[in-house]
Amino acid sequence: MAVYETTKAFPLKDGSTVKIREATPKDLADIWRVFRSVIEEKKWIPVLFVEEGEFERLSWFSHHKSVGSVILVAEIEGKIVGHCLVERDDWDAAEHVGNLGIMVTAEQRRRGIGDALITEALIRAREKGFEKICLSTFNTNLNAIRLYEKHKFQIIGVRKRQFKMEGEYKDEVLMDLILDSQ
Ligand SMILES: CC(C)(COP(=O)(O)OP(=O)(O)OC[C@H]1O[C@@H](n2cnc3c(N)ncnc32)[C@H](O)[C@@H]1OP(=O)(O)O)[C@@H](O)C(=O)NCCC(=O)NCCS
Repeated sequence: MAVYETTKAFPLKDGSTVKIREATPKDLADIWRVFRSVIEEKKWIPVLFVEEGEFERLSWFSHHKSVGSVILVAEIEGKIVGHCLVERDDWDAAEHVGNLGIMVTAEQRRRGIGDALITEALIRAREKGFEKICLSTFNTNLNAIRLYEKHKFQIIGVRKRQFKMEGEYKDEVLMDLILDSQ
């Protein structure tokens, strides 16, 4: 039986270590802090506002726990620096599908944290019975596209001008990974 509470340590490029573990309700304020910092960059995700109440955070967490989503946090020296969600699809007939989202705070990028998060997220997603992972990203987010391609995601389509951020249109690049082909 899988032990989801396990914390795993991953080596980073500079020789230090990041801990990857399942999130708990105590992490919610930090998860939101990371989320808020990425939204404020106004470049990477199509979210302009974030719900800030404790009730909303707990509801979000409870919903994902109840449907069997994967929620991982990346921790360095006791500080949450990133997180990754594999959200179980809403459709009754798509329970085997997860939708992935990932973020690392700007000052901690390019150290290998995103790699560690996605590696562990895919392991735990398989353990929880996911068979396919979907995601989407802006065509301008080459960092994310490279990260996903490194982990064998394939581009399966592009929605032209799907978003408008700061007056600039962004195409939405859709990517998939079939887990049982690995
Ligand atoms: C995308 C994101 C999660 C990557 O996290 P990260 O910790 O910087 O990534 P890593 O350092 O682990 O890099 C992993 C791989 O991603 C790719 N990558 C990430 N940043 C890159 C950059 N600036 N330039 C080129 N490749 C990059 C590379 O393939 C890299 O592997 P490599 O180091 O062997 O070349 C991070 O940039 C981020 O949080 N961005 C803002 C939020 C976001 O865009 N989320 C995704 C929305 S769909």
